[in-house]
Amino acid sequence: MQKVNNSLNLLSKVAADFIGLDTVYKTADGEKSRRIYLDSTASTLMMGVAHDALEAFYDHYANTHSVLHFSARISTDLYYWAHDRILSFLKADPDSYACFFTGSGTTAGINRLARVFRDNRPDRDTALVSLMEHHSNDLPHRKHMNKVIHLPLDNHQGQPGCINLEALEFELSKNSEKVNYVAVTGVSNVTGIINPIHDVAEMAHEYGALVLVDGAQAVAHMPVQMAGHKNPNRNIDAFVFSGHKTYVPGSPGVVVCRKDILLNIEPEEVGGGMVENVYIDRYEIKKSFPDREEAGTPNIPGAISLAVAIDVLDRIGMQKIYEEEEELILIAMKKMKEIQDILIYGEPDCNVCPRVASISFNIKGMDHGLVAAILNDYHNIAVRNECFCAHPYVKEMILDHLLEATEYVEEENFEEEFKLKSGMVRASFGLYNSLSDVNALADALMDIVTNKEKYSAIYHVDVNGEYRHNSFCAEKENHFSVTNFIDQYFNK
Ligand code: ALA
Repeated sequence: MQKVNNSLNLLSKVAADFIGLDTVYKTADGEKSRRIYLDSTASTLMMGVAHDALEAFYDHYANTHSVLHFSARISTDLYYWAHDRILSFLKADPDSYACFFTGSGTTAGINRLARVFRDNRPDRDTALVSLMEHHSNDLPHRKHMNKVIHLPLDNHQGQPGCINLEALEFELSKNSEKVNYVAVTGVSNVTGIINPIHDVAEMAHEYGALVLVDGAQAVAHMPVQMAGHKNPNRNIDAFVFSGHKTYVPGSPGVVVCRKDILLNIEPEEVGGGMVENVYIDRYEIKKSFPDREEAGTPNIPGAISLAVAIDVLDRIGMQKIYEEEEELILIAMKKMKEIQDILIYGEPDCNVCPRVASISFNIKGMDHGLVAAILNDYHNIAVRNECFCAHPYVKEMILDHLLEATEYVEEENFEEEFKLKSGMVRASFGLYNSLSDVNALADALMDIVTNKEKYSAIYHVDVNGEYRHNSFCAEKENHFSVTNFIDQYFNK
């Protein structure tokens, strides 16, 4: 009981301590209000303790390639601690798995692994990729593998659910000698639908295929256990995620992968730090991780602050975080379903298809861009709209609406209209969001649905295809200038 209370206590302290929770903007009605941030699936806000730990660490900052001075030792110890901390967070045994940092999100890591998996077993030239993937877990496989087969999703009366396991088994058995790996997201960045990654792994391993999980949307919202399953076939071979979606903007992307796979292939990037010895005619690559995979000076502050956030999430407990966020998303879905004209995408019954973090929707008769602009300009609610870098998945879900919408459009305007309408609005949540944010979203959506005509009349589409208020200029009213900041800094 004491432990549960402590965890809740810590959760509420951490939730209240994010940077940007008090950001104020002036809205189109001339009022100033607190921004409500519902765009965490794109990037989360910065966790206060990670920010402050980083500031404290800067007193000791040094390059991890330096060795003997005090600061170099502190930096190096902390940098290695960051890798270990992430491995233990994901329950990835450090003897079998390596963690390394790459790029500024998930994309670089998945590109790297697609090449590693390809070169590791060149005779297996096919990747199976689900239809609900972000482009970062689709295009790298198209580029680096000879063949990609896209796997369909469960169909719930026209609404997609998670990856279809029967289709997966069918493709695995049909192409059993050729499938190198299955690439699947843990959680969709569009609908928030959770995939059964361990069932996928079990099936894939039975057919000799590996499993690569895009963990970008899972890692900050639910528990992940890569290894240590009773049935080892349920372990995950590689897991990739982004620090900027895990409460530390500015931190790198993270790859956790089985060492035996990585050791078979020469690392993609070569340079300082990853070599044992360099001679004029050859070089010897280190066998040790993470050095082998991290050529050049890494993003040391980003990696350390990310590990601080991960440590804090672990202290709260990911199951607790999952339960709290699940409650919030259930309330949000319920309130949205009660509003006429809102279409929620993906199987909407969370008992059938559990989801976390994201809800994507449209309002009948209104373009997604207009709804997102009104939410921002009048209600100070930050959401993302369009296709969320998951074009095939989004287009599949909105196809019927597109066809309806384009029926009456003149041929010459077809392209423009098609583009305007092909998208959704996404509200997404993080551990700092509360019931009052959900209520504000529901009230705002009710206002928009009730005043469709009024709002439609005061917006136009600009040359870039974006909805703009006819008189209110968001950029002018809410300006942040770094050059002014520098001036003021030196005139203090
Ligand atoms: N991948 C990010 C998103 O889903 C940017 O919004």
